Amino acid sequence: MSINIVTPNGKGGVGKTTSASSLAHGLALRNRRVLLVDFDPQGQCATALGINQEPGVFNALVNSHSDIHQWIRDTGRTGLDLLPGDRSTATAQIVINAENRPINSIRMLFKPLGKEYDYIIFDTAPSVGGIQERAIYASDLVLIPTATEFLSMNGLAQMTEVLNSLRDQHTWPGKLAGILPTFYDEQTSESSKSLAELKANFGENVLSPIHRATILRECAAEGKTIFEMDPASRASREYEELSRVVVKLS
Ligand SMILES: Nc1ncnc2c1ncn2[C@@H]1O[C@H](COP(=O)(O)OP(=O)(O)OP(=O)(O)O)[C@@H](O)[C@H]1O
Ligand SMILES: [Mg+2]
Repeated sequence: MSINIVTPNGKGGVGKTTSASSLAHGLALRNRRVLLVDFDPQGQCATALGINQEPGVFNALVNSHSDIHQWIRDTGRTGLDLLPGDRSTATAQIVINAENRPINSIRMLFKPLGKEYDYIIFDTAPSVGGIQERAIYASDLVLIPTATEFLSMNGLAQMTEVLNSLRDQHTWPGKLAGILPTFYDEQTSESSKSLAELKANFGENVLSPIHRATILRECAAEGKTIFEMDPASRASREYEELSRVVVKLS
């Protein structure tokens, strides 16, 4: 069975897509078979990998009895496939809420792929409920990217509430893999204070931070992963370390 991982945060721009796509490629480079799934209507997983946005997630969610394989794309990277999304994912979100689909609906949808992939990674939109909640329920490991800035704890409080309610009300079997501090900059007191606050609240669940790095912005613009842009960069080493930690946890 695949290990499913999600990178949620109700806050926008905290590094969810960067972390999901970097981790996906990092695991593929460790000879694992990986499927990245783009549950965000912004469709930025495809952009990050330099391929076209498509209504793959919409088709898979709305025509849930069709064969999901037809919507999956080869990214041109060994071991890394993508179920792409685009604006139409917002419509799928409405359908899922209107039909009040069961909490395990996304888990069931991806279950047949469990034999084909070692890891399935879900990137989600910066909101809570609907697809996000079902994607978390479908996941074994939750990795929460959190920008090291003022008020980042607010977004985390909301996420831990979601995890607790899934565990208590729906006997969700997954666990928090860790808080991933992002945009870390030791030159600023905001960053170090924020990291200290994260550690005070989440202790050993706080993973090694990903530093703020212009090259990560350039990756997104070029449609290349950090491992393709500059394998010798610090950002590359940091995401490689994250991939190593995830393999160890799973
Ligand atoms: N460590 C970093 N240092 C500098 N820039 C980064 C870093 N991580 C991500 N970025 C850039 O910051 C922007 C937001 O990152 P990203 O898209 O990964 O966040 P997100 O949480 O997925 O956003 P959204 O909520 O809109 O989906 C992007 O332009 C990305 O390239
Ligand atoms: Mg994103």
